[in-house]
Amino acid sequence: MDLHRQLLAANDPEIAAAITGEEQRQRDGIELIPSENYTYPEVLAALGTVLTNKYSEGYPGRRYYGGQHFTDRIEDIARERARALFRAEHANVQPLSGSAMNQAAYLACLQPGDTVLAMDLSHGGHLTHGAPVSHMGRLFNFVRYKTQHNRQGAIDYDGLMEMARETRPKLVLCGFSSYPRELDYAAFRRIADSVGALAMADIAHIGGLVAAGVLRNPLDDGFDIVTTTVHKSLRGPRAGLILCRQTLAAAIDASVFPGLQGGPHMHTIAATAVTLRKASEPAFRDYGRQVLANAQALAQALVGAGVSLVTGGTDNHLLVLNTIDSFGLDGRRAETVLDEIGITANKQVVPDDPRLPLRPSGLRIGTPAATTRGMREDDMRAIAAWMVQALRHPDDAALLVRLAEEVRTFCRRFPLPGVAAA
Ligand SMILES: Cc1ncc(COP(=O)(O)O)c(C=O)c1O
Repeated sequence: MDLHRQLLAANDPEIAAAITGEEQRQRDGIELIPSENYTYPEVLAALGTVLTNKYSEGYPGRRYYGGQHFTDRIEDIARERARALFRAEHANVQPLSGSAMNQAAYLACLQPGDTVLAMDLSHGGHLTHGAPVSHMGRLFNFVRYKTQHNRQGAIDYDGLMEMARETRPKLVLCGFSSYPRELDYAAFRRIADSVGALAMADIAHIGGLVAAGVLRNPLDDGFDIVTTTVHKSLRGPRAGLILCRQTLAAAIDASVFPGLQGGPHMHTIAATAVTLRKASEPAFRDYGRQVLANAQALAQALVGAGVSLVTGGTDNHLLVLNTIDSFGLDGRRAETVLDEIGITANKQVVPDDPRLPLRPSGLRIGTPAATTRGMREDDMRAIAAWMVQALRHPDDAALLVRLAEEVRTFCRRFPLPGVAAA
């Protein structure tokens, strides 16, 4: 155990024990939540540093506190790496997380009451894309578009163009938390242009896959603003990034600070810089390719076993299972059954779900975390088989115990980055 952990264990054994327990949980189970990942040991090292002591309100060269020699350097490096990796004219690396990055972006370019076109929540959009329960949903007029169930979830871009003409949005937003297909960014750009709106993409889920060059970058199709979290497929600390045109740079920066946030988390920004460097290395491109290959293998194995997938498959890292149609179980029950055998997934609404979000019809899974641990296509097929057995026999306690043991044994082959073996 390192010195910091020894000190923690000696001084706060309750918290130290809970952290050790979480390490064990992560080591002994298979993580399929598509928005999670295992970060790098180097990122954990950067997070646990004295940078957490420092107030750095403002931006490099323009701070409200003294003593910024090293923090300015760190933020400059992080911004430069973000710009280079995503081919962006400007980057803001201060958003504390994904929700804050989207809020700052909206508040930079919209007035209260302005109209935004965004994907419906049950079709894959995110809470911050105007869900009625979110503050953003109350502040702006979100008009929701849907996906087409009978066309593998494709978006009807002609219909969307029509919707834009009728509703005159100031912002056309695309991006998702639970949509397994690729988007046509050029079509979104044309729709925004047709009504003089800005085009924004929230690539929170697929930021790592865009950085790896295995999915398309909306900035290459002329988007004005792109936001991404750093902690999902990008494998970094919990944080957000805003990438934008130079003409929007001042508005975006002012919106993040002082508009929305106070002091940036400099330990996180250092960890973000480390992540962005890793993401620019050739090994990260291989990682991105494997995330996609694993998602294909998982989808094929599940479909082969008769499981119903929303849109019928996937183009990215995530899959949405209709567990009611496939197993007669709601998403909450399916999540609990899988938990029992050491597979972590999360319940999920399906398009126009007749059920409530806490007991929805589906389950969302993805491959970024399992791929980080070194799992490959054969492993995905094994995982699919465990899932299907458990979900077909949710009340067979002896079977679940046996599957849990198999999962635990399997996981020993795949060390957890940054955590010593048991
Ligand atoms: C598309 C999308 N945007 C934004 C967010 C918000 O990120 P955070 O949970 O870090 O606030 C998420 C997280 O689930 C997301 O999936």
